[in-house]
Amino acid sequence: MGATMATATAQRIRTINGSGFFNCITLRYYYGGMLNEPIELDGLVIRNRMWLPPMCQYQAEDGIPNDWHLVHYGARAAGGFGLLIIESTAVTPDGRISPNDVGLWNDEQAAAWQPITAFIHKMGAKCAVQLAHAGRKAGVYPAVQSEKKGPIPGWDRVSPGTEPFANFPAPRALTTEEIAEIPALFAAAAVRAVTAGFDAVEIHAAHGYLLHSFVSPLTNTREDRYGERSLLLREVCTAVKAAVDVPVLVRVSASDFCEGGLQIEDTVELAKQLRDCGVSLIDVSGGGLTPFKSWDAIEGEFPGFASRIGKVLPVASVGGILNPAQGERMLREGIDAALIGRAALWDASWPMRAGVTPPPSYAQGVRDQR
Ligand SMILES: Cc1cc2nc3c(=O)[nH]c(=O)nc-3n(C[C@H](O)[C@H](O)[C@H](O)COP(=O)(O)O)c2cc1C
Repeated sequence: MGATMATATAQRIRTINGSGFFNCITLRYYYGGMLNEPIELDGLVIRNRMWLPPMCQYQAEDGIPNDWHLVHYGARAAGGFGLLIIESTAVTPDGRISPNDVGLWNDEQAAAWQPITAFIHKMGAKCAVQLAHAGRKAGVYPAVQSEKKGPIPGWDRVSPGTEPFANFPAPRALTTEEIAEIPALFAAAAVRAVTAGFDAVEIHAAHGYLLHSFVSPLTNTREDRYGERSLLLREVCTAVKAAVDVPVLVRVSASDFCEGGLQIEDTVELAKQLRDCGVSLIDVSGGGLTPFKSWDAIEGEFPGFASRIGKVLPVASVGGILNPAQGERMLREGIDAALIGRAALWDASWPMRAGVTPPPSYAQGVRDQR
């Protein structure tokens, strides 16, 4: 099922200030391409289908975003991305992947996001924030700014059970009462997100973090009601939908890529349940529950998974996209938006390669790089 398209033709015809030569190239691309088509997600109109996936920056202190986040996200909004999905943002201090993660567990953090979301909007982009709890994979030394690697001793890691991730210390199994409090934590962070100016919320249920570890049969062998593996994620989505009137996205690991773990068929069924909770879009990723495979090894699998989930709900997918042709192919396969991750770290203005109009300050000097 594709998401609604709004005023596509009008939006396709854009030109850049400059020579007729550049205009010809831009128009030719626009007429052929779907990446530039706007999309509407439950009332949120997004200018194109080139989106930034969440990517941790490990630059915050006390969960508070700063100039780095303004510059990093601001540059990508100015560079033409349609939707920026802001990095994994913790709903509790212990839910951070690293001590330098951003958070939305207090109002000071929400206030610090306001100028960042305002600038993103000024550049014509929309922004969602990925709300997360890292569960048994929480509390690692940050990938930047630290010579130490691996799990930080003494961190309170929690999980459906006590099985550790890789060489991490064993987590503490959450009690039924503690689990029942988790939806309210996500809902409170979602309310702060909307106060901070975010247009949508993404629930992180992928990569082996807390919500994924409830969904996967490898990590959830509970015998209480949360042994029904999708229950906590459904409760989180329902609580967030009840608390805020913005689209809710869910990032899933479509497969655990190992025997006894989640398979794509399970995720298609999960998507149906999430649709019934009011979720607007599934952001398709994979793996992370075990240290078994890296993204590079599995990135080619995601578009195929997304096409199957896309029959249930609108979908966005990563997939090692480097150039616009790869993104276009993905959209032709029924995926609603292409997520450009690592390539966008190299090139904040990646969407200009697909014909997006440069901001006025760049237009006079811009040369076609495609
Ligand atoms: C530096 C970095 C940080 C990342 N942080 C997150 C994150 O916070 N949340 C998440 O769901 N995925 C995270 N990812 C995964 C990306 O969102 C994306 O799925 C992955 O890079 C594959 O997309 P690509 O092939 O376009 O790079 C991160 C990836 C990178 C490279």
